[in-house]
Amino acid sequence: MTVWSAADVEAAATRGATLRVGPRDVVTPLAHERARELGVTLAAADDADRATLLPSRPPPSCPPPSRPPSSPGPPPSGSPSPALFRRGAPLPTGLAPARPRGGTPTGRVIVVGAGHVGMIAAMRMADADVFDELVLVDVDEGRAAGIALDLTHTAALSGFATRVRGVGTVEEAGRADYVVITAGRPRQPGMSRADLVSTNAEIVGDLACRIAVTSPDAVLVVVTNPLDEMTQHAWTCSGFPATRVLGMAGVLDTARFRALVALEGTGPASTVDAIALGSHGEEMVIPLSRVREGGRPVAEVVPPARVNAVVDRARGSGGEVVGLLRSGSAFLAPGTSAARMVLAMVRETGEVMSAAVLADGSYGIRDVYLGLPVRLGRHGLREIVHLDLAPDELAAVREAGDRIRERLGAHP
Ligand code: 2OP
Repeated sequence: MTVWSAADVEAAATRGATLRVGPRDVVTPLAHERARELGVTLAAADDADRATLLPSRPPPSCPPPSRPPSSPGPPPSGSPSPALFRRGAPLPTGLAPARPRGGTPTGRVIVVGAGHVGMIAAMRMADADVFDELVLVDVDEGRAAGIALDLTHTAALSGFATRVRGVGTVEEAGRADYVVITAGRPRQPGMSRADLVSTNAEIVGDLACRIAVTSPDAVLVVVTNPLDEMTQHAWTCSGFPATRVLGMAGVLDTARFRALVALEGTGPASTVDAIALGSHGEEMVIPLSRVREGGRPVAEVVPPARVNAVVDRARGSGGEVVGLLRSGSAFLAPGTSAARMVLAMVRETGEVMSAAVLADGSYGIRDVYLGLPVRLGRHGLREIVHLDLAPDELAAVREAGDRIRERLGAHP
């Protein structure tokens, strides 16, 4: 299925005044308008015809092409996104050109995968209004473009000026400062995250390799499962310094634990102070010695047996949601968590959060990606933060590193 834009019509006009459109193709309203203006005929074509007309797009491949990134790069400031408006067309009133915030334009973020998680992450980041452009990338280009347009329609409601675009490849997305990778197969009932490793490793590896060409300075935030292993794989394939390859899971697991503590009748989740470390899965560790509710040790507020039950439930929350949905996995909390990590970097909040990072010897762990306490900056990992853990808590985090390393060894 192809989405024919005004730019395609303009190109067709130079090749003779007919553009053959396949039965499942989509012609954008602006493309129709442009065809009328230029006298281009939009003729029905079968797939065979279409194959001769599709603009040839370099097939994605790894190792990356030697040529410089073919991506168009950032649109001229003030011009609208090409997927939504005719190039150079006057902006409709009310959609002001990107405003530099605090005098420092904040560039572009790409979300790869326009599934539910990517959609939520995109919406949260658009609502934050910190980027000049947000680009959704999906192999289903029409889905990416449709969600981008739908999200753009909320601009006046949410008050953001961020331009939103939807394309089919990272090459078309342009050079980005941050790339959130949500692409991959989600879990289905009965599946573990580890069941996804071979399928998703191919997707994540290919993307990482191509992003290394198109966005060589970007920070990668990996969301695809199995998270710790996919983040390490993205680091390996991208060739980026480890400080610019992060995995999002600890923010999600921490948020789940905080919310579930609050369900025990304490104060709201925002009054629960906790952090999830280790793996995104069976070896997730909540150091209870550090959990506070309203500033008090959690044991003074929730009976210890209940707290341990809450830790177990938080660890299994992904599977619990999968079982309830019966198709696909959670997306509201994962998408929001991914956006939270990116916003912490852009805004340089300096908050301590959990992220899957390459252990550097801290906590006695080295050379494996797992959830550790970190501070992030504009360009990724600023530091791994030392937290005092009880001996059993430290042992559990180290055990998580060992298990992840074993799983990586099983899937070189
Ligand atoms: C979860 O835990 C999808 O891994 C994600 O729900």
